[in-house]
Amino acid sequence: MADTPTVLVTGAAGFIGSHLCDALLAEGKRVRGVDRHELEDCANLQGALTHANFEYVSRDLGQEAEGLCMGVDSVCHLAAMSSVPDSITDPRRCHTDTCTSTLNVLQAARKAGVKRFVLSSSASVYGTTLEAPVVESVPTAPLSPYAAAKAAAEQYVRAFARMGVDGVSLRYFNVYGPRQERGVIPAMIRAFNAGRPVTMFGDGNQSRDFLYVADAVAANLHALRHQRPLGGEAFNVGCGHAITIRELAVQVGRVADKQPAFEQQPAREGDIRYSCADVTHAKRVLGFEATVRLPQGLRITMGLA
Ligand SMILES: NC(=O)c1ccc[n+]([C@@H]2O[C@H](COP(=O)([O-])OP(=O)(O)OC[C@H]3O[C@@H](n4cnc5c(N)ncnc54)[C@H](O)[C@@H]3O)[C@@H](O)[C@H]2O)c1
Repeated sequence: MADTPTVLVTGAAGFIGSHLCDALLAEGKRVRGVDRHELEDCANLQGALTHANFEYVSRDLGQEAEGLCMGVDSVCHLAAMSSVPDSITDPRRCHTDTCTSTLNVLQAARKAGVKRFVLSSSASVYGTTLEAPVVESVPTAPLSPYAAAKAAAEQYVRAFARMGVDGVSLRYFNVYGPRQERGVIPAMIRAFNAGRPVTMFGDGNQSRDFLYVADAVAANLHALRHQRPLGGEAFNVGCGHAITIRELAVQVGRVADKQPAFEQQPAREGDIRYSCADVTHAKRVLGFEATVRLPQGLRITMGLA
């Protein structure tokens, strides 16, 4: 077992991180999961914690990551402040949780001779309203501290790739699936289940590219497996199709077998108008392509498949 690869997953107790831990363990990897939560608050890790190849470390990575990468082959760094509104309320904390944590983990990775560093970044770095699928060469233009911190973290990944820690940034679009607590899809599901109207911020015609969580996990697995240096490059990780929030409510309603009713709210600060991935680059270089279609992903998320 000594040569079983070990992957450090930060943000392991979160939505995507916990699914990634499960997938890595299923592949036969050893996983060291890190999060700021105490073990008793890690409901998402229930399955992983029963696995002999899983180890959990509680640590605030914005403070330090000393020693965490010893014996680790690769890192998937997901720990971050994951909410745009929270980043507007508390930009300094966003910087610490997202940017400083990235720097701390990269330093620990460099010290330990880690071979591959995979950053969970975000499509929010584009901050664009362009009415076309966005390609990675479009300059970043963050609209929120959340996006600014992700853009900065990506630059650290690039810099450390020149310093011996080969890395990559995965710009997720809107990820959804079981265990997600925040975000538009869980909010819609809760509204339908409670017989309440769906809250619509702005006119509801803002569009998003929704990616099922298993596909976000698959993108990480492709990035870990990639044999050649990735040089700190960024890749879009989405489906390549966008739908409006209004259309999404109709689709969720269809799966729940209910007609949507809407409650109008003003548009939110920092909200992007149009967001859709051009996925050509990830497909060509990483061999990654999303496989779960929205209706199927919604059925699984709602416990109906
Ligand atoms: N969910 C999405 O749609 C989406 C889209 C784009 C990017 N992302 C990125 O993917 C990653 C995972 O997102 P998620 O939806 O699973 O979010 P999440 O909030 O469920 O998970 C993030 C985890 O990071 C942990 N964390 C935060 N700050 C920390 C710190 N200083 N030290 C240790 N742990 C810390 C949190 O406790 C949490 O468990 C994040 O980096 C997020 O920005 C997510």
